[in-house]
Amino acid sequence: MFRRAMHRSALAVLLSASMLSSTAQADTGGKPTSATIQADQPGPVYHKEMFTQFAEHLGTGIYGGLWVGEDSPIPNTHGFRNDVVSALRDLSVPVIRWPGGCFADEYHWREGIGPRSERPVKINTHWGGVTEPNTVGTHEFFELVRQIGAKAYVAGNVGDGSPREMAEWVEYITSPAGSLAEERAENGHPEPWDMPYFGVGNELWGCGGNMRAEYAADLTRRYSTFIKAPDGTKVLKIAAGANVDDYNWTETMMRVAAAQLDGVSLHYYVLPDGGWPPHAPATGFDETAWADTLQQAWRMDELVTKHSAIMDKYDPERRLFLAVDEWGAWYAQDEGTTPGFLRQQNTLRDALIAAINLNIFAKHADRVRMSAIAQMVNVLQAMILTDGDKMVLTPTYHVFEMYKPWQDATVLPITIDTPTYSKGAFALPAVSGSAVRGRDGKIHVGLANADPTQANRVTIALDGAAARSVTGRVITAQAMDAHNSFDAPQTVGPAVFNGASMQGGKLMVTLPAKSVVVLELQ
Ligand code: AHR
Repeated sequence: MFRRAMHRSALAVLLSASMLSSTAQADTGGKPTSATIQADQPGPVYHKEMFTQFAEHLGTGIYGGLWVGEDSPIPNTHGFRNDVVSALRDLSVPVIRWPGGCFADEYHWREGIGPRSERPVKINTHWGGVTEPNTVGTHEFFELVRQIGAKAYVAGNVGDGSPREMAEWVEYITSPAGSLAEERAENGHPEPWDMPYFGVGNELWGCGGNMRAEYAADLTRRYSTFIKAPDGTKVLKIAAGANVDDYNWTETMMRVAAAQLDGVSLHYYVLPDGGWPPHAPATGFDETAWADTLQQAWRMDELVTKHSAIMDKYDPERRLFLAVDEWGAWYAQDEGTTPGFLRQQNTLRDALIAAINLNIFAKHADRVRMSAIAQMVNVLQAMILTDGDKMVLTPTYHVFEMYKPWQDATVLPITIDTPTYSKGAFALPAVSGSAVRGRDGKIHVGLANADPTQANRVTIALDGAAARSVTGRVITAQAMDAHNSFDAPQTVGPAVFNGASMQGGKLMVTLPAKSVVVLELQ
């Protein structure tokens, strides 16, 4: 189906020297962190597309989680459940990637238009072998995008589809005239939709066709040629990118196909305890598993650095962007859930993964201009979990909400000198952070303390800026695997943070153990 690199081997070796303090020790041992924010040297924009969400026809990610149908007793608007849509609107979700994932390279768009009762029922061969009714197709997806107030990122079928099928889908979606536009109008939508992003297949190295890099790059060139936007509009084309550290894939794609592309993707999942297939539990883990997981989250820094360096070679002007359009934690699916549905609980540990990644992306925002966590609802590291008419927001959701000021903010460079947190064979920087000047003009600082047992004192110098006061919010909990359930939905959520103050022009923060803190300076 798709292959995955093993992730755990020699993990300590994978940590770059820059990640670790030279004074590595068994734990943070009370050693504080010092940092400097260079507010007078603003960096690139932290594009709001960094908060893109991924919604695949997988498990209950679409059916049940988003779509319940117009006749459902669950309150809905044109079939999409109001509670979930409202929560996603609150997050200001900028972009939604659909319909996959692996599903995309077997998806035939014509099966998802026209009267729903006449659409073919297919088998979802990747995810549980369940039936796929094609109830949610192009029109329904764009209705979801409209309701959430997001933009569309549609992934096309290179795997078992033709360039003509792909070109016609793009025309059906975007064209103001012609027979495909007329057909769209007959199906209920006379106006063309805006589709700023289009994926040229997905994981062509695996479930998308098990292709070699050279073949995939040639196909990407060919298929991209026929993706055309009507005059006055733009569809940015994103190539199916590398799996983890397959640098040859990025090299080949850039060398062969860059001229036809606007972006190249990268997929990287955190797979604790030995890698593929995912088997580590989402809850009930010990501190070693905590450290293993967060060390793997930090690996994103190394991966993005190296893939970006390859892109720099072929695209020094940085015209193309790196879209990390699948990332997050992949655990064993929860006991009692349908095989192949990738349903997993989401804990405080996932909140740390989210914050660490969002902080890493700030450092690379000149090249990483889109990222999509996997996935939006009920699948993998989800924002939201549902069961029937019940819904709960996960710790990951709350981190995304806390980081909203990062959307289209300006990155402020930050240097951090932090002790190493280690447990057993695993080691990572105790404190991760990023800073931005928000569109509100204020400085916002995000910090995560990976040490699950010790608070960390952080002193932050502000170069080129002055602040009088600071307010903040924190996510933490007693247990590393604290999570929200339908019975106890508020177990992990943001609380007012009183552990920061301005002293002598410096920002002083006492980060609780295992916490994410977001601060606003005045
Ligand atoms: O997100 C689940 C799956 O992970 C996606 O379908 C695929 O692209 C990746 O292997």
